[in-house]
Amino acid sequence: MALRTRLTELLDIEHPIVSAPMAFAAGGRLAAAVSGAGGLGLIGGGYGDANWLEREFAEAGNARVGCGFITWSLAKRPQLLDAVLAHAPAAVMLSFGSPAPFTRRIKEAGARLICQIQSMEHAREAVAAGADIIVAQGAEAGGHGLSRATMTLVPEIADYLADAAPETVLLAAGGIADGRGLAAALMLGAEGVLIGSRFWASAEALVHPAFQQRAAAADGDSTIRTTVVDVARKLAWPRQFTARVMKNRFVEDWHGRETALAEPATVEREMQRYLSAMQAGDADNTGVWVGEAAGLIDNVRPAGDLLRDIVQDAERLLRERASKLVQ
Ligand SMILES: Cc1cc2nc3c(=O)[nH]c(=O)nc-3n(C[C@H](O)[C@H](O)[C@H](O)COP(=O)(O)O)c2cc1C
Repeated sequence: MALRTRLTELLDIEHPIVSAPMAFAAGGRLAAAVSGAGGLGLIGGGYGDANWLEREFAEAGNARVGCGFITWSLAKRPQLLDAVLAHAPAAVMLSFGSPAPFTRRIKEAGARLICQIQSMEHAREAVAAGADIIVAQGAEAGGHGLSRATMTLVPEIADYLADAAPETVLLAAGGIADGRGLAAALMLGAEGVLIGSRFWASAEALVHPAFQQRAAAADGDSTIRTTVVDVARKLAWPRQFTARVMKNRFVEDWHGRETALAEPATVEREMQRYLSAMQAGDADNTGVWVGEAAGLIDNVRPAGDLLRDIVQDAERLLRERASKLVQ
């Protein structure tokens, strides 16, 4: 049994699962583990650190992986794209900004272009830029995003693509962490899924175990969309985007008081506090980056095992449950 979709065909992979290019968390080991299990792993290019990227591509060894960038940040240091393309990635994912300035170089290098979008407007922009794959990301997602829910965004984008760009392959993202999520995404019209939070809580992720344990113990009510984690790090995110993180002491202290946090002396102090707590695994005083899927995560396991279980459960649900429902 196997789930064959236009995604598995396009990327020549076994299972319709791509791991998200999570800044700081998705290094070469995680990407290689996901690719090794039959999905496609993406290294998190994040805000772009050339040395970090070189090291993580080396960690991925000979595995066929891709890489993702935060587009508005890449625009400030476009040469990073060449450094990544030199590793012949299977795909490059762009998210949070206009993909247009980068698409030609990505395609000429022979990589598939994945654009993550959060709205219909973004989808139109991605199609115009020539995306091979569009990831419709709902607000349940961990990390940055916008406001639309996965449940309505995915089928609306599926309808739009069927009409405007039938060759473009659609993935769903945001809140997908198990076989039920994968099966549901396929029913909504996606050809596969992009998973972040569930792989963030894997053995290979570059995440402090204390953060993973905090998320595993939490339920899905325990996250919030906020900008305080960006204000505290002095990151100039475009206004529309917020980040989903766990509600902890740090977030509760500052959410709603962003202007006070941005005061020069305060932000210097809080940035130090945030960064040292991140290093130390202090889950109360930094950003713990996980989505609503926290409520579906109760352990930390090797990424390959997680992927295989997600696929097997989705196959079983589609074969057994779906057919029993129709009388
Ligand atoms: C820890 C973390 C870091 C993330 N960093 C990035 C990033 O750097 N670039 C990006 O495009 N998306 C990033 N995302 C969002 C993912 O691409 C994806 O949309 C999201 O994880 C999907 O939802 P899920 O977390 O419910 O699986 C991040 C997500 C998480 C959980």
